Amino acid sequence: GAPVEVDISTLNPGEMKTVEWRGKPVWILKRTPDMVASLKKTDGKVADAESKRNPEEFTPEYARNEWRSRKPEILVAVGICTHLGCSPSSKFTPGPQPSLPDDWEGGFLCPCHGSTFDMAGRVFKNKPAPDNLQVPRHMYLSDTKLVIG
Ligand code: FES
Repeated sequence: GAPVEVDISTLNPGEMKTVEWRGKPVWILKRTPDMVASLKKTDGKVADAESKRNPEEFTPEYARNEWRSRKPEILVAVGICTHLGCSPSSKFTPGPQPSLPDDWEGGFLCPCHGSTFDMAGRVFKNKPAPDNLQVPRHMYLSDTKLVIG
């Protein structure tokens, strides 16, 4: 598939847009400072904090860091659960919510079998999804132009 160019100039902190790449939904989330800070709190609760599992498939080298991206504030991830392919929902509001742990810091919930992911798409421990959400190859042409693929 051809690379997809995305204009992120209108994306405000806390907003996410979805584009299609190779028939898959790709999320581009501009994280707020609180969302970035939440990753420190989830480090010990996620199954693969440093994205060491199947790195060739799931995490390009430049995203094998805590925020899983080139820029701390921008997450680029394929919005497909690594368990059986459902679409996780965004659950960005921290705090107690139905089907989420009491100490929820914000992230994503897969409605099919309850896998939870943090604000970097890292899967929490003891969930059915075997891997973190896939980070597709991506690069910046400028501060506002991103290329996926
Ligand atoms: Fe997401 Fe099973 S498909 S938890």
